[in-house]
Amino acid sequence: MTDTPFTGTPFTGPDGAQPDGAGPVDSAGPDAVSCRGLDYAFGETKAVQDLDLSVGAGEVFGLLGPNGAGKTTAIRCITTLLPVPAGMVRVFGHDAAKEKMAVRRLLGYVPQQLSADAALTGRENVTLFARVFDVPRRERSERVAQALAAVDLTGAADRMAKTYSGGMIRRLELAQALVSAPRLLMLDEPTIGLDPIARTSVWEHINAVRQATGMTVLVTTHYMDEADQYCDRVALMHHGRIHALGTPGELRAELRERRAASGTPAASGASRASVEKGALPTLEDVFRDVAGSGLDEEGGDFRDVRSTRRTASRVG
Ligand SMILES: Nc1ncnc2c1ncn2[C@@H]1O[C@H](COP(=O)(O)OP(=O)(O)OP(=O)(O)O)[C@@H](O)[C@H]1O
Ligand SMILES: [Mg+2]
Repeated sequence: MTDTPFTGTPFTGPDGAQPDGAGPVDSAGPDAVSCRGLDYAFGETKAVQDLDLSVGAGEVFGLLGPNGAGKTTAIRCITTLLPVPAGMVRVFGHDAAKEKMAVRRLLGYVPQQLSADAALTGRENVTLFARVFDVPRRERSERVAQALAAVDLTGAADRMAKTYSGGMIRRLELAQALVSAPRLLMLDEPTIGLDPIARTSVWEHINAVRQATGMTVLVTTHYMDEADQYCDRVALMHHGRIHALGTPGELRAELRERRAASGTPAASGASRASVEKGALPTLEDVFRDVAGSGLDEEGGDFRDVRSTRRTASRVG
């Protein structure tokens, strides 16, 4: 970890006015992300269906779900990389369909696919993003150095990215996303394929920047232990819809209640005795329950923990 605090501030003008003149943002605080009835289809494939999602300012929010659940599609609609064909997406109050540039200037995005150029040095890669994101020329080199320091890459900054390890590449991509001092950092599978130490390191860097700046983090991951440890709230997506939403603790407790109500041992193999004793399931148990229990057929379109509780006996 670096000792250098990340002090970047978001690009807002006087009175919080956005750089493209989109107008001041309510300082009382609109949600960082608000999706209402978002639909997105690739031809016949309904990737995202009637998605409602609110991410509060300053939250670390995890979007979880099996392969093909629609996480990346939803994230790309929020980043404005995909259009919003139906429904409403707002980022800090700005409409992603009508105020694309205002939204983009509030965002840092680490895509699921590799976004660093192997033939450039770490510093060159981050500088490229600083230019694309309009970091003022006079601040650029300092901001680049600060972003590289924030992810502990100062010593490797002038090496070609092709010489980096997988963990270093992911941290470089984090620096690319951080150089514009985003208010909302969107991370699509930031730790996929990394060893446990590198995964922890990525999260420590994210958390250090978050503590220094108060930025909001929206992350997708398949690693349930990470979601449990680092996310304030999580949403479980399946077939384009959200099936469970709450804090990891709430979702785990809710599954325990549901199992106890039905007296049914868990699909993951927990014994009846452990169910009756009330052992707290893991978030992975919750994930398996949502992804593997045929909730669609039961009509269990869970919107939040409260409604999940109300339907507990029905779907146990
Ligand atoms: N460019 C595309 N063209 C056609 N279909 C697509 C495209 N991108 C995604 N899809 C389809 O949309 C659905 C949702 O995909 P998406 O990538 O959003 O899921 P995901 O939850 O991010 O999955 P993963 O965990 O594997 O990254 C899938 O059925 C996928 O096959
Ligand atoms: Mg994806």
